[in-house]
Amino acid sequence: MMNPAHAQMLQDIRSMVDRSGVQDFLDPYPFRDRPSHMYRCYCWAKRILPCRPEADAELTLVSTLFHDIGVIATTREKPKADHDLLGGPIARDYLLQNGYAPAFADRVASLVVQHQARERMQDPDTPIELVILMEADMLDERGALGILWDAMAEGAKPLQTYEGTLERLKMRKLYRRPERNPLVTERGRAFWAEKQRLHMDFVLALERDLGLTDD
Ligand SMILES: [Fe+2]
Ligand SMILES: [Fe+2]
Repeated sequence: MMNPAHAQMLQDIRSMVDRSGVQDFLDPYPFRDRPSHMYRCYCWAKRILPCRPEADAELTLVSTLFHDIGVIATTREKPKADHDLLGGPIARDYLLQNGYAPAFADRVASLVVQHQARERMQDPDTPIELVILMEADMLDERGALGILWDAMAEGAKPLQTYEGTLERLKMRKLYRRPERNPLVTERGRAFWAEKQRLHMDFVLALERDLGLTDD
């Protein structure tokens, strides 16, 4: 559950995205709306935070809610381009207008601007709040939701086959690189491993269901 301040923020973020009209061109899949993605990342960050008590929870959660807000300033020609850089000032303005301290607004803006720098995840100097934000971003739309995404995307094609969905599921890194766990925190890594197992088991079960294996 969200506290009332965060719930209000999410509502405002939804209005900002709706008003921008960006959802019309951001993504070919109507089920992938940005505010819902940011809400789900917030939920992942909340689950990870207890294993890192040194992290500033409020900073992490608010940054997660705003991390992709920069998409509202991107264009039809280049959807999502520089959304990290564009998002920082938008988040800062919102927070200042809503009574948050300038120092806090600056810290949120800084995390939003850096959220795509995944090469920094393993760097011990990277602030833990940024690490958790990036982990939350990577956990969304993987595992159960990733499977659903692939199935729905295949279902939107003119020619729909179970085999096509299977092939799409096998393209995912969760399947192709099972040894890879790019997350850092204990909880983040455990969630990633869980999603990987689920994805792998689902693909194996589907291959059997389709009569592609002898067992
Ligand atoms: Fe992003
Ligand atoms: Fe994101």
